[in-house]
Amino acid sequence: MFLSLECKPCVLNPIEYWNPSHYEKEQQNIRNNCWQWVCLNSEVPADKDYCSRTVSGVPVVVWNQSGKIRAFKNVCLHRNSKIIPDGCGKLAILRCQYHGWEYSNDGQLCRIPDSKCFQGLSLPSQGLIELRIENFGDFILICFDHNTPSIRSLLGGMREEIDRHFCGWRLFRKNSKDISVNWKIVVENAVESYHVPIVHPKSFKTYRLEEWHDHQISEIFTRFHDLKPWSNSIVGWGYRLLTRLMVGNKNPDRMTHVHIFPNMLFYYGDLFSIFYIVEAVQPEKSRLRSFFYLSPINLSRQKKFWVLDSIPFLAVQLLMLPFLSFIFFRILKEDLRILQDVQDGFKYPSGLGVLGAREERVLAFQQYLKRVIKAG
Ligand code: FES
Ligand SMILES: [Fe+2]
Repeated sequence: MFLSLECKPCVLNPIEYWNPSHYEKEQQNIRNNCWQWVCLNSEVPADKDYCSRTVSGVPVVVWNQSGKIRAFKNVCLHRNSKIIPDGCGKLAILRCQYHGWEYSNDGQLCRIPDSKCFQGLSLPSQGLIELRIENFGDFILICFDHNTPSIRSLLGGMREEIDRHFCGWRLFRKNSKDISVNWKIVVENAVESYHVPIVHPKSFKTYRLEEWHDHQISEIFTRFHDLKPWSNSIVGWGYRLLTRLMVGNKNPDRMTHVHIFPNMLFYYGDLFSIFYIVEAVQPEKSRLRSFFYLSPINLSRQKKFWVLDSIPFLAVQLLMLPFLSFIFFRILKEDLRILQDVQDGFKYPSGLGVLGAREERVLAFQQYLKRVIKAG
């Protein structure tokens, strides 16, 4: 059921979806108050692996040092170049790509080429700024602020649910797509079902009934769990059989969609899970990164001949992957057709706008953002 059937006014002002000064203030407050995704555990699994990304405009490098994962601001103390370019790989030493200043494992400056030319040099004693880091599921998050509560404590039981669907699951596909609209428009579209019959008439046909919506709203996330019973059709029976054989679950769950504020999105069930994140790039530009995972096959039942027994399951999973990607990107394509027009409309609004029951997760997100912006 929905949590409320009451119509509510939008909390964010249309100007906040395109104005550059609002964008700067918003991103600054997000940096100061929020945990943000930076990379996957599976992108830095071994000693010396690194991953460098831009988070809310700030270059950050995550570095595996003999199993200890650390994150630093990726900006050189010499003349503020990014120390290493965005990307992932191996890093024996953190050496600036511009003039070669080197930093030790704890971010301290340890070598300056031709150092005799820097007599009387005085630099901040702490070296590079080290950032707070936490992880859950396959995800590494950083926080620029020292007082924000731990993300694990904020998530409560949701952390275990995400762990169950992403820890030990196999990452099969990554994708990145630049989109010419404000990041909040993409996020809001992902957490409401009101547009479904109009924008996705072929993919979804119509809404889920109200009683099939299990909505949960917390300070830091919203969750939709689909309560629609499995049908007695070929698809329903096929899915149930597959789930039983592959993961040993006799009563497969319907899909769950979770939004962890501000911009992490998850879609998962028994056999696969998808993580996608909408990164803010500019006031009217965002980047959607998506990661597709498949569940581990339950081998406990397939004792002696597990290799042989597993082959058909692996084959089914590999066939499932292109199908999943096809559906995901088809729905995304349908959404993108309308989102540019949504962006254009925000410049000449007809009012603040209103939100109905099918959009209550949008409201929770807007209220969160308002709190974050006020806190700054
Ligand atoms: S900017 Fe990094 S060494 Fe010069
Ligand atoms: Fe959609």
